[in-house]
Amino acid sequence: MTSVTPTPAPSTTGTPLVFPEGFVWGAATAAFQIEGAAREDGRKDSIWDTFCRVPGAVLDGHTGDVACDHYHRYADDTRLMQDLGIGAYRFSSSWARVRPDGVAGPAGVNQKGLDFYSRLVDSLLERDILPWITLYHWDLPQALEDQGGWANRDTAYLFAEYAVTMHEALGDRVGVWTTLNEPWCSSFLSYTAGVHAPGRQSRPDGLAAAHHLLLGHGLATQELRARAPEANLGLTLNLTVAEPVDPTNPDDVDAARRIDAQFNRVFADPVFHGAYPVDLLQDLDDLGLAEGFLEHVHDGDLEIISTPIDTLGVNYYHGESVSKTPAAPTEELHGDAPVTRETSAPWPAADGVYWHPTGAPVTDMDWEIQPELLTRLLVRMHEEYTGPKGMRLYVTENGCAYDDVAGPDEQVDDQDRLSFYDQHLRATHAAIAQGADVAGYFAWSLLDNFEWAWGYNKRFGIVRVNYETQERTVKASGAWYGEVASTNTVPP
Ligand code: NOJ
Repeated sequence: MTSVTPTPAPSTTGTPLVFPEGFVWGAATAAFQIEGAAREDGRKDSIWDTFCRVPGAVLDGHTGDVACDHYHRYADDTRLMQDLGIGAYRFSSSWARVRPDGVAGPAGVNQKGLDFYSRLVDSLLERDILPWITLYHWDLPQALEDQGGWANRDTAYLFAEYAVTMHEALGDRVGVWTTLNEPWCSSFLSYTAGVHAPGRQSRPDGLAAAHHLLLGHGLATQELRARAPEANLGLTLNLTVAEPVDPTNPDDVDAARRIDAQFNRVFADPVFHGAYPVDLLQDLDDLGLAEGFLEHVHDGDLEIISTPIDTLGVNYYHGESVSKTPAAPTEELHGDAPVTRETSAPWPAADGVYWHPTGAPVTDMDWEIQPELLTRLLVRMHEEYTGPKGMRLYVTENGCAYDDVAGPDEQVDDQDRLSFYDQHLRATHAAIAQGADVAGYFAWSLLDNFEWAWGYNKRFGIVRVNYETQERTVKASGAWYGEVASTNTVPP
C-alpha cells in the first residue's frame, strides 16, 4: 500500500456538543468481513466465499478465510470495546454458519454455528455492551444461490425461517434485531452490476432480488414480532442525497430524481408507505423492465413488506451530484469496487445519468466528504418516513477509509479519520436540533476488515488490525471516539 501523511484535522467549531440522554454510541462490523474460520464448526460456503475465488473479483485475490480471526478472538474484541467505552455493538450473523446447506426445517440448523453467536452475546452482556444483531449482511449460503439466490422467491421464506432460528437461540438476550443491511448492495450491486457476490449482471435479476429481499424483511419482521412484541425491530438502508449539478436544468433535476428513486425510495417507500414509487415504475416501464418486475410482486406482498417496524438504520457515506451531461472522467461505481473486470452499472434505470465531482475532499475510497448532507438526509427521513409513524432513526454506519500509516509500535495518528467523525457527529447533532429523532450512532468500523471487492486494501477501522499478527491497536480516532461515547459529548 502507498502511504499518505495524514492531514491535520481542520477541526471543530469550538463548542462541546452534548447528545440527548440515552443516546446509543456503538461500533459496527459484519460477519464475513471479520470472522474468518470459514470452514470451522460446520460453516459452509457463502456466496462471498465463492466470489473470492473468481479471478479478478476481489483485489489481490483476498478472501474471508481468516479475516480478523474474530471467531476465535471475539472475547478480546468485546474487551476492547469495553475499554474504549463503546456502549453498543452492531454485528451480523452468518446464515452460512447457522443454516449452511440452505435446507428448511430443524435438520438444516448447525448448532455449533449458533453457539458462537451465543458466546458472543454473553460476552457483550457481561461487559454491559448492547448486542445489536443484523441477520443479513450479504453472505447468502452458496447452496441457496445454487437454487437461484435472491432472484428466487423461496429465498425470502427461507430467510424468515433463519430469522426464527436466530431468535430461538438469542431472543432471551438480544432485544434489537435488524433484518437486512443495505439491500441496494445485495440486489443491484450484486445481481445487476456484478461487482459484489454473486457477480451476476442482469437488470431483471437485480430487480427481482430487491423485491425478494424486501419480502424476506417483511416475513422475518412478522415472525420476530409474533415472538417478541417488545423487541426493537428494523432494517438498515444505505441512503444518499442526490443533487442535480445544475438545479435550474430540468434534465439534471430529473437525473437526481432517478437516483433518489433507485437508491432511496425503491426500498423506503414499500417499507414505510406500502408501495413502490410510481416514477420508478415509469422509468422501468420506459426500458421494458416494469412488467417483469411486477410479476414478482404478488398480491399481499406490499402489506407484508410494510409490517410496522421500530427503527430505520441509516448508513451514510456520501451524496451524489448528477447530471444528464457527462463529466470527465465519469465514475459510476463510486469506488464500490476496483475496476479489474468488466462490470455493468448497478442502476436498473439510470441510463444517461452521469456523476460529477463537487470538489469536496475525498477519502481513500474516493468518496466525497459531505457531512452537511447527513443532516439533510436524517431530517428528510424523519419528516417523510419515520417521524409520522413514531419510529426512530439510528445512524447504523458512518465512517471512512484512509491509507493509515502505522508507526513502529503500530500506532496510527489518523487525524483525518478523527476529523471525519467529528464533522459527521456534528452533522448528526444538527439533525437532532432540527427535529430528527436520531437515537444513536455506530462507527464503521470497529476494526479494519475485509472491504468486499477491495479486500484488505481499504482500512475503515477505528482500531488497526495487523493482518500478519492479528494484533489490534486503537487508532487516535478510536481513542477519541471512545471518549465521545463515554461522555456523550463531542469535545470542542
Ligand atoms: C457499507 C457496508 O454495510 C459495509 O459492509 C462496508 O464495509 C461499508 N459500507 C464501507 O464500504
